Amino acid sequence: MLNLVTGRQRPRFIAGIATILLVAAGAFGIGIAYAQMPNPPQAGGWLKALPPERQIEAIDRQFRGFDMAMFEVNYRYTEMYFAGIEGNWDYALYTGEKIAWAIQNGFERRPKRRANAQEIFFKEAYPQVLSAIRKKDIARFKESVDALRGACNACHTAERVGFIHVGIPSIKQTPLINN
Ligand code: HEC
Repeated sequence: MLNLVTGRQRPRFIAGIATILLVAAGAFGIGIAYAQMPNPPQAGGWLKALPPERQIEAIDRQFRGFDMAMFEVNYRYTEMYFAGIEGNWDYALYTGEKIAWAIQNGFERRPKRRANAQEIFFKEAYPQVLSAIRKKDIARFKESVDALRGACNACHTAERVGFIHVGIPSIKQTPLINN
């Protein structure tokens, strides 16, 4: 151990203690950092509590139908519009392409909606908007968005929800900016 005459071991001994203290302080610091993380949400257990043969049905119900697909379509349509107007073309394409994904997921849940959407929306109006975005052509973008909302509304009429009228968006949904 420590040689009290020469004191040679002392510096190493002190260095050892210092290292231990540093490691401990570090661990304590990490402990504090973790302690500041909110607890993960607790599962409610409601799904597990159902009999197994009713669990899939409950998940199906919770995913909802075409209404929730439209919820996303509406969000992305609005985002795409402001992105284009602001010249944020990469984001306009990113969110605009996802309109198709949202509607297609909607078809999976409600296959009867497919035929009208294919005919009224996907054939012309939608590809025209994406093409204007890819060309970064603001005049064509504005025209094609107007035609697109016409297609949204024509499909609503065909699907007997003609009271849902889509206009040109007026309120931005996110704080995203173009810079
Ligand atoms: C299949 C053709 C079809 C197309 C294309 C379509 N919709 Fe819809 N939309 C529907 C149907 C059907 C509903 C009603 C869904 C329900 O209640 O289950 C609906 C509902 C909505 C709703 C109300 C959702 C709610 O429940 O709160 C909004 C908003 C909406 N659509 C926006 C749009 C926009 C914006 C577009 C175009 C970018 C669009 N829709 C294109 C068929 C369509």
